[in-house]
Amino acid sequence: MTVARPGSNELQPPASGHDIELHNVTLRFPRPDGKGTLPVYENFTLDIERGSFTVLLGPSGCGKSTLLNLIDGLLTPTSADSVKVLGRDVRTDPDVTRHTAYVFQSARLLKWKTLRGNVEFGLKGLGVQPRERWDELMKKYFGIVGLTDFTKYYPHQVSGGMQQRAAIVRAWVNEPQILLMDEPFSHLDEITAAELRRELITLWSRDEQRRTVVFVTHDISEAVQLGSRIIMLTPRPAEICFEQIVDLPWPRTDADERSFEIEKRLRLVFAERAGVKA
Ligand SMILES: Nc1ncnc2c1ncn2[C@@H]1O[C@H](COP(=O)(O)OP(=O)(O)O)[C@@H](O)[C@H]1O
Ligand SMILES: [Mg+2]
Repeated sequence: MTVARPGSNELQPPASGHDIELHNVTLRFPRPDGKGTLPVYENFTLDIERGSFTVLLGPSGCGKSTLLNLIDGLLTPTSADSVKVLGRDVRTDPDVTRHTAYVFQSARLLKWKTLRGNVEFGLKGLGVQPRERWDELMKKYFGIVGLTDFTKYYPHQVSGGMQQRAAIVRAWVNEPQILLMDEPFSHLDEITAAELRRELITLWSRDEQRRTVVFVTHDISEAVQLGSRIIMLTPRPAEICFEQIVDLPWPRTDADERSFEIEKRLRLVFAERAGVKA
């Protein structure tokens, strides 16, 4: 039996070994004009292993954000056999989402609070970390992303990249078992995005706890740089049209021949099966 470290949120993985289990999920949104529904998922099944860095790669509008929202219990499917997080169905047991954290496309910081104030707000809001650990946790995670000297700044006093780093700290300080990341670097310039990818991989790979990351992107190169498993989705209703295990060490770059080969293959498949010229 796995015993959690004191103060850690690491929970025993479900017997299946899958932190996330979506079985036969159907989701149809009502159309705003009242004329029927928009099918986003029809009998969609996906299992995500404990400790994996799973990248969901798919064209715009295929349902990637919707999938994260289903996992986080923010949306309820039209029907499903299961929507399980850590072995518990989020529909009947929404409290399980205290073990997940979400990082969005934009940092969504409170502009009247400093970076530290924002992170404290996240700690207080979720209430899973004892107050006596807050200082140590903030020091650790602000340090890893290079924000130690900026914790007293307000969001408007730092760059977009620094704001997004603070958003990552806000998610990570709670030490959630599952990190849901929705195109978190897509608004950043390429150099900053590359730095943040490296920092994210450092955070995740050096952690004693085997955290599960679900990272959404439409960027093939980003998918190959980050993922241990890449899942490619088709346009709506989204289906898994291709899967790739990437068994290469991090940090990865385009300059590495093996990642370049995988990227080339994914580009071809993306064009053929997801109908996207990338
Ligand atoms: N709350 C909603 N109500 C109605 N339609 C929605 C809602 N959220 C998303 N959609 C539709 O579902 C589809 C998938 O959206 P989304 O998951 O945001 O795509 P992606 O993140 O892959 O770009 C889109 O066609 C979008 O218009
Ligand atoms: Mg989206």
